[in-house]
Amino acid sequence: METGGPSTQFGTNKKRLLTGIQSSGTLHIGNYFGALKPFVDSYQEYESFLMVADYHALTSLKNGDELRQNIFNTVKDYIAAGVDPSKAVIFQQSRVGEHTELAWILDCLVTVPFLELSHAYKDKVAKGLEANAGLFTYPMLMAADILLYDTDVVPVGEDQRQHIEYAREAAAKFNNAYSQTFKEPKEMILKNVAVVPGTDGKKMSKSYGNTIPLFATKEEITKAVMSIVTDSSGERPENVFAIHKLLLDQSGLDKIYSNPTMRGKYKLIKEALIEDLEAFIAPMREKRANITDEEVKRIIEEGSDKARAIASAKMKDVRQRVGVAL
Ligand code: TYM
Repeated sequence: METGGPSTQFGTNKKRLLTGIQSSGTLHIGNYFGALKPFVDSYQEYESFLMVADYHALTSLKNGDELRQNIFNTVKDYIAAGVDPSKAVIFQQSRVGEHTELAWILDCLVTVPFLELSHAYKDKVAKGLEANAGLFTYPMLMAADILLYDTDVVPVGEDQRQHIEYAREAAAKFNNAYSQTFKEPKEMILKNVAVVPGTDGKKMSKSYGNTIPLFATKEEITKAVMSIVTDSSGERPENVFAIHKLLLDQSGLDKIYSNPTMRGKYKLIKEALIEDLEAFIAPMREKRANITDEEVKRIIEEGSDKARAIASAKMKDVRQRVGVAL
């Protein structure tokens, strides 16, 4: 069930798009192709919100200076990747206190066994990550991020699919208990980039150490590409091809992979990938270098004010419904 019609907070009839990335480290091309590019490609058709998930980052990062730096970096990454801050609300999760407030209310609606089903939680625990309570209740903070804005669509990679299901479940549980309040959001997961592989062919992930950083220097690109695992059988190095496919269309791929002088020559193919990655990254890297910390601060303050105006109106209604508003 959905509430009302399209959002009108900004005086438009556009639907709402929202996504976020944890400010827990350097963005990689998996983040870009899985979530950021789908956002960049569609955000102007919506009322759009792009969040720095700094409180989510706290579940794994325990270094204040590093987190602070990552927040600046993530906003620079967003802008360099093509988001115009005058056309999307770029904001910092922790600056809008309503997120943690709603997360608590949602925590009180879901059961422990329900949260125990989270693949992301189980995976992290299996990898030996500290199972802090924040990591466990993480899906309800993410649900709050989404539901506060009556979000219609959430562009994410495949690994976040279950989290969007959790957000829908949380909305339904709240609506059931307190009558219709929240919209149930839908995920936007693009098939060809749902799981971007890393240099070892497994899902690209910071915690696997198999990433290609989105703003890598030529040296870093070279190092990452040279580390791509290739088996010596077959003419096409599949792990190299999988990354190349993100950058080139069919005719561009044919020039390399159907070229008799390149066929089977893994070193030449890797060199071609280095050049193609450099051509793709260099313009963004240059744009990023010109964004100052002062600009970032201004953008994040303005964006967070706009986000807070919407979130606080929604929470007023929520407090009324749950009975804490007197
Ligand atoms: P995070 O920070 O782990 O990842 C950010 C986005 O990048 C996508 N992604 C990938 N997509 C394809 N292939 C890959 N190898 C790959 N690796 C990462 C993720 O799916 C994600 O879309 N919980 C979220 C952050 C978040 C959020 C939100 C997202 C917090 N609140 C509200 C949307 C809406 C997370 O940890 O993503």
